[in-house]
Amino acid sequence: MFKKLSTAVAISSLLMSGSLMAQSLTVGFSQIGSESGWRAAETSVAKTEAAKRDINLKISDAQQKQENQIKAVRSFIAQGVDAIFIAPVVQTGWGPVLEEAKDYDIPVFLLDRGISVKDKSLYMTAITADNVLEGKVAGDWLISKVKDRKNCDVVELQGTVGASVALDRKKGFHEAIENTKNIHIVRTQSGEFTRSKGKEVMESFIKAENDGKNICAVFSHNDDMAIGAIQAIKEAGLQPGKDILIVSIDAVPDIFKAMKKGESNATVELTPNMAGPAFDALVAYKEKGITPPKKIVTKSTLFLPKDADKELKLKENLGY
Ligand code: AHR
Repeated sequence: MFKKLSTAVAISSLLMSGSLMAQSLTVGFSQIGSESGWRAAETSVAKTEAAKRDINLKISDAQQKQENQIKAVRSFIAQGVDAIFIAPVVQTGWGPVLEEAKDYDIPVFLLDRGISVKDKSLYMTAITADNVLEGKVAGDWLISKVKDRKNCDVVELQGTVGASVALDRKKGFHEAIENTKNIHIVRTQSGEFTRSKGKEVMESFIKAENDGKNICAVFSHNDDMAIGAIQAIKEAGLQPGKDILIVSIDAVPDIFKAMKKGESNATVELTPNMAGPAFDALVAYKEKGITPPKKIVTKSTLFLPKDADKELKLKENLGY
């Protein structure tokens, strides 16, 4: 009895000092789905980063539906997890469920996309890239690439309607090109961040633009849609990367493979390691009471075909 009691006291004092805390943490992660190669990489990195820290990670796949994410968050609250990670599919509609998490004192971390809520205390931090900057980096690349052309008509493949990243990337790209005289966006539509929809939308753009002959460049909000577009361009008898320039976002292995074939021209990296910084922030908060900054911003590096070999190797070593 005495022994049991002293063990319990020892464990509870260890817990209070924080040295057992990371091992005993359970995190519920509401993931959007598996719409893209990037998303699959983010999920797999999250598992690896959790294992490194002995964190028990429960992942729920929302299959692109916010209602499924809301259900998952409620289920995580009922299970009494230590924290909830959400990759929010769209940016609005989160207030009520986050209030519930707050009532139970469960900190919420946003991964890779933002939300729009009046009360910022409803989440602890957002780990994201500056997505306006990502769009701008893509736009600046195109400006320098076509500076000697009189005219460059661009088609834009947008991400999921209502997703913060789609809105921000669009904004950044449009701001970059708005003062140029030669670059114009002639068509823009959502390809839902998927390869198949990207291809379908690109086919309709090609049809509408003189069998693709009027299109100078594709700006795609992610690499997967760009890969779908590349396929559509090839099927139309044109050469992607030459007849039609391709610039996209993510930097997943498949776009570097396309670059090696001369079929893609530039990509802006979005690191799939969003969970690592989120776990670090969570552990620092639980163990030391450190409140993270409201935004943890990841890098947005531009990669070109000359970087393809190196990046492919690097990603292979990282396991994605
Ligand atoms: O939120 C990040 C975006 O979501 C990625 O750029 C895209 O590939 C994914 O599906």
